[in-house]
This record gives sequence, C-alpha cells and structure tokens, in this order.
Amino acid sequence: MSNIIDGKAVSQSVKDRIKVEAAQLKEKYGVTAGLAVIIVGDDPASRIYVNNKKKACEYVGFDSYEYALPEETTESELLELISKLNNDDRIDGILCQLPLPKHIDENVIINNISPYKDVDAFHPVNVGKIMIGDYNFLPCTPAGVMELIASTGVDIKGKECVVVGRSNIVGKPMSMLLLHKSGTVTICHSKTKDLKAECKRADILIAAVGVPNLIKGDMIKEGAVVIDVGMNRLDNGKLCGDVEFESASKVASYITPVPGGVGPMTIAMLMQNTLTAAKVNRNLI
Ligand code: GUN
Repeated sequence: MSNIIDGKAVSQSVKDRIKVEAAQLKEKYGVTAGLAVIIVGDDPASRIYVNNKKKACEYVGFDSYEYALPEETTESELLELISKLNNDDRIDGILCQLPLPKHIDENVIINNISPYKDVDAFHPVNVGKIMIGDYNFLPCTPAGVMELIASTGVDIKGKECVVVGRSNIVGKPMSMLLLHKSGTVTICHSKTKDLKAECKRADILIAAVGVPNLIKGDMIKEGAVVIDVGMNRLDNGKLCGDVEFESASKVASYITPVPGGVGPMTIAMLMQNTLTAAKVNRNLI
C-alpha cells in the first residue's frame, strides 16, 4: 500500500511560511502585498476558486481586490481594467480567472497583464523564463506538484519522470521544472503509441490529462511516486482524478488523492508568487 501524500497539510505549511514572511515584510518595510482577482461571468466553479484565493490572501495577510465583471463585459473593457491594475502600485499580482467567456480571447488578456504582475506565470515572457530556468514566478500547479514530490523526500535527480498531458498550464511547464531538477523527462499525450509502456518506466509519474481514471495500477511501476493533477467531475457529481486510485495505490510508494492532493497546493503557490511579486516590484530583493 502507498503512502498518501496529504496536499492539505503541505499546502498549510507553505501558507504558514508565507504568513511569517508577509508579516516580516510589513514590519520591516511597511509593505502589504496586494492581489487583484478578476472574474468575468458567473461560472460556479470559478466562483469557488476565486473565493478560495481571497480566503488564502486573508490567511497569509495580503490585501485582495476582487473585480467581478458581468458575462457581457467586452474584451476592450477587460483590457482597460487590466491596464489600470498594471499601473496601480497597491497591486502586486493580477489573476484573471479562466475560462473567460467565449467572446474574449484569453491569449490577448494574458499578453496584456504586466509580466511583473503575472502571478499565474502564463505570460509568454514568464513562460520563456521558465524554459531558460531563470524565473521569479512559478507556474502554480506544477510548482505545487514539485512541493508535493519534495515532501516525500524522493530526489528527482536522474529519475525517469513521465508527464501525461502537454497543456500550456500544466504538462509543458511541469516537464521543465522536473528537467531543471535533473529528471529524465518524457511527455506523453493523446498520440503516444504505447502509454502503458511509457508510464510503466516512470519512477515519478505525473497525470495531467483530464481523463477520469485513465492511469490504472497495471500501468505503474512498483514503488513509483504518482501525482494526480486530474480534477474531473463525474456525472454523479463526484470529483475524480486521472489515476484510478484504488489499483494505483497498491503499486505506488507515494500517491496523491483527489481531492486533497494537488488541488490545495495551487493556491499556496499563488500566494508564494504574490509574495515574490511584492518583493521584486518594490525592489526588496
Ligand atoms: N482556472 C483554472 N485554473 C486556473 C489557474 O491556475 N489560473 C487562472 N487564472 N485560472 C484558472
């Protein structure tokens, strides 16, 4: 049986560390980090995420500024708000909750958030910096996965790391972070010829495809570390990952549950990026 990685506990310890640093920033420099969170429309899942981000800001001692805009907001109205926030000194980080309504081009929005305030690390400048390995902002979900792997004590150096999924938000940056830690990285996707054989080689397996229960126990190497980024809503309303937990947990040495694994980490890493933004933008590091 595997050890279950407790994402809530790891996330809590990251947030507690940030809370201490935020208090020091306030005491030494009189600075309170500020995060602007923009939500357009009334997608219920996005609403929950945004509320959780605001709660996390409150917990660590940051100011949060919510901009809840109606579904009919135009692209140029949203760009106008972003331009205002780019030039607002109280705001260290800007997060525009995705997905946006169909009439707004997400890439246009991402490209117009200042790279210095891009706490999602989605802007092409920050994506390029991650590629080079010279970055301030960590892509939140992959950075959370790295914290979870670190919590196991397993060293990534020289390990076979297989990432299933090649999205811009998770798969691609995830692969870069593992590579920076000297893992031997393979990226699998829907056209991969023999997914089972690729997964079976992995010492560290990251599933981020959005296909419920795709990775079964017989696709996993004995003793592997398995991180499930999947967050799939089934017809019965239950959340389920990309990994079939029951069979996988009989083979893996460490495994994340869904929910309670990667999910809580993303917000903790967003807080980390906001703290970094406050320090960098105010020339404190
Ligand atoms: N929607 C789902 N996940 C994310 C995220 O990490 N950042 C943003 N901006 N929107 C999201």
